[in-house]
Amino acid sequence: MKKASELIASQKPWVVLTGAGISTESGIPDFRSKNTGLWEQYDPMWVLSTDALVKRPEVFYGTGLRILMRFENARPNPAHEVLAEWEKRGLVEAVITQNIDSLHQKAGSQKVLEIHGHLRSAHCMHCGNKYPMQEIQSKVQKREIPPRCSCGGQIRPDVVLFGDLLPPDFEKAQVLAHRFPMIVIGSSLTVSPANLLPRYARKLIIINLESTPYDYRADIVLHGKAGETLTALDAEIKKLTSLTQ
Ligand code: APR
Repeated sequence: MKKASELIASQKPWVVLTGAGISTESGIPDFRSKNTGLWEQYDPMWVLSTDALVKRPEVFYGTGLRILMRFENARPNPAHEVLAEWEKRGLVEAVITQNIDSLHQKAGSQKVLEIHGHLRSAHCMHCGNKYPMQEIQSKVQKREIPPRCSCGGQIRPDVVLFGDLLPPDFEKAQVLAHRFPMIVIGSSLTVSPANLLPRYARKLIIINLESTPYDYRADIVLHGKAGETLTALDAEIKKLTSLTQ
């Protein structure tokens, strides 16, 4: 913990890559943890795929999207809050997140690259017209599946599905990963291409409950809960900076 706090303070600013593990303390289950991971119960490659979206919309809107929307009222936890504060103090350059829950923004982070999209808005697949997410929800509640735009096209959320290309944020994330040292928080680092990003980083810290395939490349690995670990690191860094002032 002490070594990590010294490294974070001396090599700032950092780019932070987050995964579902940072939001489990906000009550959102992650994907791959044993027993609690969402994907123990559903096959994401199907219910959240472009194939289901187009060919079996009742599966996508009825099951896939409903699972994701269950967590729309989740609140940020101390891990999100520490990262937002670190951005203000110049320790964090940007957060790259695989999460679609908007919890970094809710905690106050300004620079957030959402490489798997988000659930705040939707668009028509035919004319591109933008819609608030509530529009899809109210149409689906009225059994309008798939929900339709006034042009007749299908409306889908601005979230990245299996089978989609990644959004422009991913290219920006690659640039940042080359330029800054990286802290990974709460990701199994098993999903490509997001898990390629840590390869580029000149310094790497991983904070995760379980081991990841990148632990061997990391300068420091901290196995623990994201909220507790970041709160403890923050306290250490504050001690260090008060000593040097
Ligand atoms: N603190 C730290 N780590 C945690 C915590 C916690 N409180 N809770 C869970 N974890 C760890 C788990 O041990 C696991 O290794 O977070 C990791 C979460 O891994 P995944 O469930 O695989 O989530 P993620 O890496 O974000 O998945 C990537 O896969 O299905 C797709 O698009 C989906 O964005 C997602 C992508």
